[in-house]
Amino acid sequence: MLTLGIESSAHTLGVGIVDNGKVIANEKAMYKIGTKGMIPKEVAECHVQNVQAVISQAFEKAGVKPEDIEGIGYTKGPGIGNCLQVGQIAAKTLSKKLDLPIVPVNHGIGHIEIARVNSWMKDPLVLYVSGGNSQILKMTKKPYPHYAVMGETFDIGIGNMLDTFARGAGLDPAWGSTVEKTAIGGKYIEMPYTVKGMDFSFTGILTHSLKAAKSKKINDVCFSLQEVAFSMLCEASERALLLSNSSEICVCGGVAQNSRLKGMLQSIANEHNARLGFTENQYNADNGAMIAFVAERMLKGGAHAKLEDCDIEQRYRIDRAQIF
Ligand code: FE2
Repeated sequence: MLTLGIESSAHTLGVGIVDNGKVIANEKAMYKIGTKGMIPKEVAECHVQNVQAVISQAFEKAGVKPEDIEGIGYTKGPGIGNCLQVGQIAAKTLSKKLDLPIVPVNHGIGHIEIARVNSWMKDPLVLYVSGGNSQILKMTKKPYPHYAVMGETFDIGIGNMLDTFARGAGLDPAWGSTVEKTAIGGKYIEMPYTVKGMDFSFTGILTHSLKAAKSKKINDVCFSLQEVAFSMLCEASERALLLSNSSEICVCGGVAQNSRLKGMLQSIANEHNARLGFTENQYNADNGAMIAFVAERMLKGGAHAKLEDCDIEQRYRIDRAQIF
């Protein structure tokens, strides 16, 4: 089966094609975030300008024609409304034109499922860490197969926190990955730490770090921010690992690209004889292949949405999405 997926929930317009679970194209165009962050209208306009070219690139890369495609999926949410709409309209247009079955996909399920399958895991504890989300999840069968949330952020996602810090502290480019590079060689300074059970909060440490960046060495602030924020995630994940009696941890989402976070999780996994799984960075960053990957599983499992029901939902919670 050949399935096409379109991702457009935030700064990335991605188009992927999978052939029975194998990714044969994963093309993208990204909105360049300046000092003001993401302005929804501008990001959506950028996606509109790029969508046709990225779809064509995906067909070219995969070596297939539009009429070879057998199913289509798009990101329903969560994400920025204006941006989600671009992918939704493109997918619905292709579905109508090519008479293809279409399914709406949860963005987080895309990240989790491609990471889980690529790391050969069956039923792991999942740490999903991206810009808009930070959650600890475990698959459950009742009342329908889905990922139940064991713990999550009380306020902002860790990726959003790191990007906001990078912008506020004047790092260039203003991404979490610049925080990771700047942290090298830094020394520890005290930071606020907020974990309640398996939930955590990042706004306190963000405010504190932005203040500290005005008077302390920037690499010390970046180092300490990462150490403390990742420790919060690790403490909550370790508790969830023991409570769920899991022997596997799968980390995914944009912040799963961070080597220090993976190193800290590896230590926890070693201590509890568990295996740590993660996938290639191209699937941790936002991408269309993960949407195609999940859409194909959904279509094979019998999911099929009517064109008029293919909507978007900015706050589409992961625990409401059925797993196929
Ligand atoms: Fe994402």
